[in-house]
Amino acid sequence: MTLKGLAVHDMSGRIPQHFVDDLISRTDIVEVINARVQLKKAGREYKACCPFHDEKTPSFTVVPAKQFYHCFGCGANGSALGFLMQHDHLSFVEAVEELASLAGVDVPREAGTSGATRTDEGLYTILEQAGHHYVAQLKQTPSAVDYLKGRGISGAIAKEYGLGYAPDNWDGLADEFGSSEQTSQRLKTTGMVISRDHGGFYDRFRGRLMFPIRDVRGRVIAFGGRVLGKGEPKYLNSPETTLFHKGRELYGLFEARKALRDIESLIVVEGYMDVVGLAQHGVRNAVATLGTATTAEHLRRIFRITHQIVFCFDGDRAGRAAAWRALTNALPEVREGREIRFLFLPDGHDPDSLVRKEGQQGFEDRLQKALPLSDYLVKELASQVNLGTVEGRAKFADLSRPLLQRLPEGVYPSFLVDRLAQTVRMNGAELRDLLAGETTRPGKPAKKSGGHLSLGRGNLVRQAIGMLLWHPALAKVTQAMDLTVLSNSQEAGHQVLIQLLDDAQDTPGLTTAGFLERWRDRDEGVHLQKLVQARLGQVGLGGALTEEGLELEFKDLLTRLQSSVSPEREKLLLTKMSREGLSQEEMKELKALHAARNEETGGLRGFDANGQ
Ligand code: UTP
Ligand code: MN
Repeated sequence: MTLKGLAVHDMSGRIPQHFVDDLISRTDIVEVINARVQLKKAGREYKACCPFHDEKTPSFTVVPAKQFYHCFGCGANGSALGFLMQHDHLSFVEAVEELASLAGVDVPREAGTSGATRTDEGLYTILEQAGHHYVAQLKQTPSAVDYLKGRGISGAIAKEYGLGYAPDNWDGLADEFGSSEQTSQRLKTTGMVISRDHGGFYDRFRGRLMFPIRDVRGRVIAFGGRVLGKGEPKYLNSPETTLFHKGRELYGLFEARKALRDIESLIVVEGYMDVVGLAQHGVRNAVATLGTATTAEHLRRIFRITHQIVFCFDGDRAGRAAAWRALTNALPEVREGREIRFLFLPDGHDPDSLVRKEGQQGFEDRLQKALPLSDYLVKELASQVNLGTVEGRAKFADLSRPLLQRLPEGVYPSFLVDRLAQTVRMNGAELRDLLAGETTRPGKPAKKSGGHLSLGRGNLVRQAIGMLLWHPALAKVTQAMDLTVLSNSQEAGHQVLIQLLDDAQDTPGLTTAGFLERWRDRDEGVHLQKLVQARLGQVGLGGALTEEGLELEFKDLLTRLQSSVSPEREKLLLTKMSREGLSQEEMKELKALHAARNEETGGLRGFDANGQ
């Protein structure tokens, strides 16, 4: 796992991280938001009705001291930068540019990356040219044109989606573009050609109908290619490259945004031909994942554009498995005001074949009847147990627990629990008790309900991370501490904490919002947001303690955290020492573990583990 700062690329070079940090800390979030949403002062904060969901009483809160906004209703939150991305549908780079222009500064590009940048531009260019080449080839290949016609695709739609044809030729691209060192390198880097064992290259795509995959700005970043008729593999895709990440891109998103002024909802389908076939019949808001499950990143991208998603899956077993995976990944993104639904197609059909059979209206009628996420969840779980028995109901609670734990905190989750409760004919409180209780399988420790997805063992680490996020300046206490034990721990939460401490020390003046921005696109980012949100709900916001008190408490937390890691690790190292001996590094670690334990006994006492 790499935990370094996000590299921010753009055609014109990389934006230095320190510039983004500075920009966030010098921006007045109140000014940025107030220009778009009418804010009212409420004590030290500002309030408004949330722009991201429908509400009558304001639960959207801006905290100037933390340069942070948060909605208690739908859970939307972030910095000024995040607000612009979410509210104005800007990309990260566009949002940075917007803030920079408000601050009256230019966005610097890192020196030394301009070379890389020009290469990037060259990569986009070669892909664009390859796309044109395939389009031209399609026009000259009757069999390919007939294939498309046979599937009901018109010239106009083929043009809109840039469909083309790669002739069955090993050197098609080299013949077209020449084989200069630079060209070959670009074709190689973009995955369009493959190296031969004894030098030279050959075309990846041969004898295939070509679907260009475009990024949100419309630049070609990859291709998918289908055999005409039968053959294996049916589809071939570009490999992951610097420009193309499957888990992030959605086929058809650019085209949908181009065709529609307002995107009320997006339909997520599985195949290229589903997107194109639906468009052909006037359903212009379909996008496809690229042979992968729907990722959290896909969902975040979609929810930046619309509040309604319909996942559309084949009715077969593979489709159901994919739907369940999509549901699992969607749970953390559930918010009030967002609508996530599931449409299962009749067996043997996919969206393309169905829309051809039933037409636009038929398909849209089915969309209307798609199952809300809560209904699908309940239905699926209920089908796995016998709700007529006590055991069955307990099992139902068992099955729901891990799913409910994926939900963010807020109004909707409690609605979902009530919905689940109805199904098992209990009242909400009863089910909550069940959910909070022990699992029915003996020998497992009881778990609390409503728990977070753990960032690691226990809540010491969560407390430490929460405190640090809220008061980044606390990082300085670690200058006088030996954190070897923590650094050596393999636990995800510990690693996150160490990384946050590094970030904060490298960047004095980093704000809470700045932290969250840095982690926005990483898996742990969601957990960090939750920890910050948890604090927002508390009175005082830590203002009750002096700076010195805070530092003492933080130091104490870190000390206790280290000693909680020690015993196990110490035992492991001792065993290893007796069996095979220890390396110098390990010896050093063992000593540090001892020291940490001794420090603990002499350390600060009397702090309640839940103390703020
Ligand atoms: P499907 O096999 O359902 O394809 O795969 P489809 O879109 O219905 O294709 P047609 O109608 O037969 O032309 C769905 C998606 O899975 C990926 C592709 O992204 C495809 O669109 N896939 C499928 C591959 O990447 N490779 C394959 O060999 C098959
Ligand atoms: Mn199909």
